[in-house]
Amino acid sequence: MPTRSFPTTRFTAATAPGGLPLLGHAPAFLRRPLAFVAGLPAHGDLVRVRLGPLDAYVVCHPELVRRLLTEDRAYDKGGIVLDKAREVFGNGLATCPAADHRRQRRLLQPAFHRDRMPGYAAMMAEEIAGATAAWRDGDTVDVPAAMYRLTTAVTARCLFAAHERAGSLPVHASMGVIAGGVGRRVMLPLPGTDRLPTPGNRRFRRARQDLREITHRLIADYRAAGTDRRDLLSVLLGSVDEDGQGLSDTEIHDQVVTFLLAGMETTAATLSWAWTLLAANPSVRERLHAELDTVLDGRPARHQDLPALPLTARIVSETLRLYPPVWILSRTVTADTRLGGHPLPAGATLLYSPYLLHRRADVFPCPDRFDPDRWLTTARPAPGTYAPFGLGARRCIGDAFGTTEAVLAIATIATRWTITPTRGRPVRPARSASLTPRPFTATLSRR
Ligand code: HEM
Repeated sequence: MPTRSFPTTRFTAATAPGGLPLLGHAPAFLRRPLAFVAGLPAHGDLVRVRLGPLDAYVVCHPELVRRLLTEDRAYDKGGIVLDKAREVFGNGLATCPAADHRRQRRLLQPAFHRDRMPGYAAMMAEEIAGATAAWRDGDTVDVPAAMYRLTTAVTARCLFAAHERAGSLPVHASMGVIAGGVGRRVMLPLPGTDRLPTPGNRRFRRARQDLREITHRLIADYRAAGTDRRDLLSVLLGSVDEDGQGLSDTEIHDQVVTFLLAGMETTAATLSWAWTLLAANPSVRERLHAELDTVLDGRPARHQDLPALPLTARIVSETLRLYPPVWILSRTVTADTRLGGHPLPAGATLLYSPYLLHRRADVFPCPDRFDPDRWLTTARPAPGTYAPFGLGARRCIGDAFGTTEAVLAIATIATRWTITPTRGRPVRPARSASLTPRPFTATLSRR
């Protein structure tokens, strides 16, 4: 498959206009974060912003994003978003520095090997069927909550397959509290506020402690039983590096929490946005139903159906373009360097935003339009233009897992149900570190 190239010229640098004394661009960012960030490419390819005390450079040009993400020693994980996330993820794969990353990635990669996907897909199919079994014609559901329950059940099951009723483990409640707490902590980067004895902070700490206990108990059970249950935890326990060293219990705990947090909210958000986009675009929905009627005719989707569901897959790609759940990320400059010819000092914070990239009209014509057929082209997008899963060494390890889950869930649900939001108004994003929709209800109609 050919790759589209992106014309590179001289890269421009600028400071975003409209900064206020002391607060800088923080009010504009906090008021309308997506619109603020999507407007930055109009000012330059590398745009300096001031968020209160934090000075950061937003990398707006796809080619510079490609350099940022492929030179992971020069631009390491770091910055405010990461520092907050580390409080929960510990030193797991998503948050560890480059110095630890290669070893961790090598130990974890087997858990996401292509050969494992059919096994996970079988568990996903069961959990998707279970999550929708109680739905009745005419019911009203809170869509984001239902999708969150579904992806929690899937992720918990694929992590701890052996645990009976994995989807209903107390993990669910703890993760909800933790995910909300991380979001709030990232959005409020004031030092110290997360240590105050507020009810929210207490709930957050208790949930983190509960989760630690649950995972350590499961690890002990699995170590005692010593068999491969074809789930993620078994792979983590069995992985050894070239020196014969495996992961310690603490390292496994950090990876489990990472997989839970990284996998649940992202895929749930993708599914929720997809239902809003399908409802607002009835002609796409009709074509989806036609594809599903031919391939599934009302039965749940399985792994072997995936090649026969190209429109469903394009709907997922296009949803991730319009609403990338991980919409902004940070990196830190490890030593004085230049990006696109512009000097950056060691310690500087760089931000990149898949949302900003995906809304560039020079890359995606009519960028706000939901058009799954834009993906019919055979050319792969140029690196740095489409990055819902990031790029380079730190690219999402669960990309195939998350995409498979989203395609199976949309296909299995849409072959039997039409989901119509009860209020006609467009659903807006929640105030959260990830791009998730605000709660909304929808009516279920049996097809
Ligand atoms: C639609 C679903 C998903 C989206 C949009 C998504 C997005 C992302 C993005 C953008 C990154 C790169 C972060 C960066 O550049 O700093 C990332 C990394 C990661 N994701 Fe995902 N993710 C999804 C699903 C999953 C799932 C299902 C899992 C695990 C079960 C997962 C586990 C991870 C991990 C462990 C990393 C860190 C990888 C590394 O640094 O080597 N993600 N994800």
